[in-house]
Amino acid sequence: MNIQTAIHAPAIETANEFAADVIAGLSANPKSLPPKYFYDLAGSGLFDRITRLPEYYPTRSELALLNKHAPEMVSLLPPRAALVEFGSGSSRKARILLRAAANVEAYMPIDISGDFLRQDAARLRRDFPHLAIHPVVADFTVLSEPPAEIAATPRAGFFPGSTIGNFEPHEAAAFLRRAAKILGPGSVLVVGVDLAKAPDILYHAYNDAEGVTAKFNLNLLVRVNRELGANFNLAAFEHYAFYNVDKSRVEMHLASTKRQKVRIGDVTVEFRAGETIHTENSYKYSIDSFQALAHGSGWSPIQAWTDGLFSVHALRKSDDGGRMTENGLK
Ligand code: SAH
Ligand code: AVI
Repeated sequence: MNIQTAIHAPAIETANEFAADVIAGLSANPKSLPPKYFYDLAGSGLFDRITRLPEYYPTRSELALLNKHAPEMVSLLPPRAALVEFGSGSSRKARILLRAAANVEAYMPIDISGDFLRQDAARLRRDFPHLAIHPVVADFTVLSEPPAEIAATPRAGFFPGSTIGNFEPHEAAAFLRRAAKILGPGSVLVVGVDLAKAPDILYHAYNDAEGVTAKFNLNLLVRVNRELGANFNLAAFEHYAFYNVDKSRVEMHLASTKRQKVRIGDVTVEFRAGETIHTENSYKYSIDSFQALAHGSGWSPIQAWTDGLFSVHALRKSDDGGRMTENGLK
């Protein structure tokens, strides 16, 4: 396969940062690990399997909304735009917009999962030979300027998958403000946001019968063992995910099945039986609560599409006079 090099933004995490984040998270009380480390090549592959599970409705819902409304969504983008996707994964959803968009000239997928991104970029170049493809390996939480390749082009943003739900709400607000700066005047951001719903639907979406979500969660420890020379015994940790109704978020944890010690390089971490490592939050919004968050973060909601389970929002950078449509919802 002809895998062309992706741009490496200087902000990408180094092995040292990974080690420092892991040791800081496991030394804290309660213990936690940042979810961005799920996504090595194996983790990205496992996430892709999650998106095809019968219980994981968000991907099916969002794909259906994109397929139904793509012409309307792309009609909101500036002419001859560069489409910037934050956390592009397999770019499966961007392909729907790119196929519908005569007005997009370049696509910039940004993802922390470098090997997965490079493989995807090679396929995109083959499937969209007339489009300039500029993959960027970067942590999208630290970018604040448009990468040079698209600095002189009108820009639009795409942030599907409800990855925004993996931020704390104040981090989501900070991300939206930075995205406004990266995308610039006249820009539109299309964001996928999962909705609060019956707890049993959410429970099964994160506790699938086949155990793929459990593997995705445990892969974090596989990665820490491999890359940081740790000795986590995978059989002594269990996937634990539940809907925290009060906080409107699904929480994922890895629970220690017994009292044990784990070595990460020179550092030893002790676990009580039942103690957990909090690995991810997945916040669930209402249409209104997400629009209020966007509104307070530099964006005017101009449209929202929903099937009752999931929502896709079009936001316009506020200082360009973006306004809600009459009902703001389709
Ligand atoms: N957009 C795809 C993938 C969502 S999964 C979809 O909707 O299906 C989340 C993606 O975001 C993964 O590909 C992961 O590698 C990427 N990601 C997570 N945290 C990131 C970060 N801090 N910086 C850049 N990419 C990140
Ligand atoms: C990427 N992100 C929005 C997914 C989610 O649903 O929070 C990650 C995931 N975690 C478990 N299953 C999927």
